Amino acid sequence: MSSTTPNYSVGNDRFDAEAATWDSKPEVVESSRLCLRTLLHHSPKYVPSLGSASVLEIGCGTGLLTVPLAEHVGSVLALDTAKGMIGMLNAKVATQGLGEKVTAKVKLLENAEDDVLERKKFDLVVSHLVFHHVPDMRQLVAVMLDTLKQGGRVWISDFEDDGPQAEAFHPKDKHAGVERHGLKAQEMEGIMIQAGFKDVEVFESFRMDKEVESGGTQAFPFLAITGVRP
Ligand SMILES: C[S@@+](CC[C@H](N)C(=O)[O-])C[C@H]1O[C@@H](n2cnc3c(N)ncnc32)[C@H](O)[C@@H]1O
Repeated sequence: MSSTTPNYSVGNDRFDAEAATWDSKPEVVESSRLCLRTLLHHSPKYVPSLGSASVLEIGCGTGLLTVPLAEHVGSVLALDTAKGMIGMLNAKVATQGLGEKVTAKVKLLENAEDDVLERKKFDLVVSHLVFHHVPDMRQLVAVMLDTLKQGGRVWISDFEDDGPQAEAFHPKDKHAGVERHGLKAQEMEGIMIQAGFKDVEVFESFRMDKEVESGGTQAFPFLAITGVRP
């Protein structure tokens, strides 16, 4: 990496390797389903024009959120830094005839002027289960702000750091590349406000039971972090 590369990328060997089996993990499928359900539930208040919205997704993975979201919005540009993940999503786009609605690209978005965005600004920028892997969240939040139209909304979804128990979200052999064991509500609110978002809200969006390494299941709270570009 050059010294000018922003510090919000992750080593993606892990996600390239995991792409082929990603959709066989019940907990990632379930968390995307719950993320979409929450977003749709809140959309009358937060994104009233969702049906025609242009959406940018950061860290789309294999498209577990992207594909079902696509039927509720105008279009989705889905970016991920792992080639394997985008390969899986592009296969779904082809087999499900979603080419008109979904574009998927391998990209670490460094700024909102990047050619991948084709000079577009978006109504909604979403990201699910990505921020706990991102070294510098402030930089990524600032880039997300710049990708939005005035009045556009960001929707960041990830599990919450609600104390030491959050560490059990990942088994120990998956800790490499995990920058933090969940997001802290107060810290995220501060990052959003400092980046320049208005109408910032951070709230528990759902809880999900997940099997943990020590045996049994544990309930993990997820946060929705949202705000509007002034
Ligand atoms: C835990 S996976 C979640 C994937 C998908 N959102 C889901 O819920 O199934 C995290 C994903 O974020 C991607 N990623 C991490 N940092 C990224 C960044 N700065 N920009 C784009 N993708 C990123 C990884 O390659 C990986 O596919």
